[in-house]
Amino acid sequence: MCGIVGYVGFREATDVLLEGLRRLEYRGYDSAGVAVKVNGHLEVIKKAGKLQVLADELKAHPLSGKFGVGHTRWATHGAPTDPNAHPHMTEQGDIAVIHNGIIENYLPLKEGLIARGHIFTSETDSEVLAHLIEEKYQGNLAEAVRMALSEAYGAYALVVAHKDKEEIVVARTVSPLVIGLGGGENFVASDVPALLPYTRKVIFLHDGDMAVITREGVTVSDLAGNPVEREVVTVEWDLEAAEKSGYPHYMLKEIYEQPRVLENTLGGRLHQEEATVELNLKLDPRQYHKVHIVACGTAYYAAWVGKYLIESLARIPVEVEVASEYRYRDPVVDSKTLAIAISQSGETIDTLEGLREAKRKGAGTLGVINAKGSSITREVDDTLYIHAGPEIGVASTKAYMAMLAAMGLVAVWMGRSKGTLKPEVAQEFLGEMRKLPRLVEEGLEARAHIAKIAEKYHQAQDYLFLGRHIQAPTAYEGALKLKEISYIHAEAYPAGEMKHGPIALIDERLPVVVLATESPFYEKTISNIQEVRARGGRVIAVATKGDNEVKRFAQDVIYVPKTHHLLAPVVSVVPLQLLAYETAVFLGRDVDQPRNLAKSVTVE
Ligand code: G6P
Repeated sequence: MCGIVGYVGFREATDVLLEGLRRLEYRGYDSAGVAVKVNGHLEVIKKAGKLQVLADELKAHPLSGKFGVGHTRWATHGAPTDPNAHPHMTEQGDIAVIHNGIIENYLPLKEGLIARGHIFTSETDSEVLAHLIEEKYQGNLAEAVRMALSEAYGAYALVVAHKDKEEIVVARTVSPLVIGLGGGENFVASDVPALLPYTRKVIFLHDGDMAVITREGVTVSDLAGNPVEREVVTVEWDLEAAEKSGYPHYMLKEIYEQPRVLENTLGGRLHQEEATVELNLKLDPRQYHKVHIVACGTAYYAAWVGKYLIESLARIPVEVEVASEYRYRDPVVDSKTLAIAISQSGETIDTLEGLREAKRKGAGTLGVINAKGSSITREVDDTLYIHAGPEIGVASTKAYMAMLAAMGLVAVWMGRSKGTLKPEVAQEFLGEMRKLPRLVEEGLEARAHIAKIAEKYHQAQDYLFLGRHIQAPTAYEGALKLKEISYIHAEAYPAGEMKHGPIALIDERLPVVVLATESPFYEKTISNIQEVRARGGRVIAVATKGDNEVKRFAQDVIYVPKTHHLLAPVVSVVPLQLLAYETAVFLGRDVDQPRNLAKSVTVE
């Protein structure tokens, strides 16, 4: 949540900060601010609203300096106003603080600071850090930060500047920070895209790390001040990958990238002839009798698909739960449990804590993750990277696709290792998986047809999505996409459960999207379609190419390529992504930055 950029070097700091913040806007975007050192003073400009509001202000009142820090905010404590935006300054303007996360004991700290004469100008928890650091400062900024952090607890990515120093002091616990290394200049940011225009050499800070960043170099230590060695990693993502490549929205670009993403996820890992997959994991599935999968949002629906895949192919019982519930319900876990965390960002705090809960209880742990070097990857026994590349659109598309493919690989890996999946069944399944990039490419051709359907129903107040078995999560993901970016209320149900409640909602104003692809449950789903039709509902069926029968029951049909029924979610989610996208465009919504949402949620 929230985006941080810090710069010390030879360029105009505001250029670097604004460019970096623009690339981090997906992390939160209700206000933004910068502090730049100008003639020995820290000058601050911060504004509620989108980053452009700050950019316009900086155009009117330029701040010229080669050292500065900047922030985009997604509000937790205090409304998105100018005073609540970061950076937060001390009364004298000596110290600027930027903070992502939550300081849990900020209230008692604030009371103490006020009693000692500090004047607060915001309602944020973050401002206490500025005043605390000021109290501790005696010429050594890193030392003051260290002392302040020994009194504050909670989650933080903290970036601090002092008017008398040409250094940025940073610290992290839970919330991510990555340092970018240049020649005669150095950077810090909450995520890699902000650094890509300048460098690919980065250091991912770990929990409990602090660093002092100057023009000449970077020193990393722990919170007690002991030096620590951190690896310099070269990130492969290039700048272009993080740009829109001519598409009107990142989301559309990312939808169209999906065939390539699937190739990346599957590439080199499928060995159809040998009926195996090569995941280079140290974990041994034979040690585990059950699987728990934790995730949030879209990743949770990928986890749900994963349950069907693992149970069908590997015959291992799987429990799937949203991480925010799992972490607090004292789950029954033992050393024979494999806990899998699925996450695009690898930073979602609930997912991380759910995983930690399983780990504390002795489970083996596997991360199915997109972001290299992210927090979850550092805490698990093993990581299976999904290789989706940077996902900028807040509504996840290509990462979901890559997660589905990765869970197919995990299911085969487990089934083959345990001997519960027969080689010939694995061969057939892997053969079908190999075809997926081409099939998804083919599915994208339906966009114009889907745009017409989106237009036809764009005035609907509500949508219902139905699917059975492994297509139930697809229905939920379709409803989530529509809600997220079009703001149309959408509900999803397992198709068979419709008669136990949602059927009461059906009338001629309700579009009902039914996942009716080929499967052993096809006939049952057709019966559900008829139940909807009998009550005047308008059916949009997602069906397998060649199914002419379905046209008799549905007003609109979107055809998807034929595949193994356990892989139907991969081809079927594409039209649902496009339906949400086209509906949102039709309604003039902000597709890439829908209201109230954040790409990476690092608060509970
Ligand atoms: C947020 C995003 C969702 C995402 C979820 C989990 O809510 O808006 O798109 O699915 O977090 O994120 P993760 O990075 O853990 O996959």
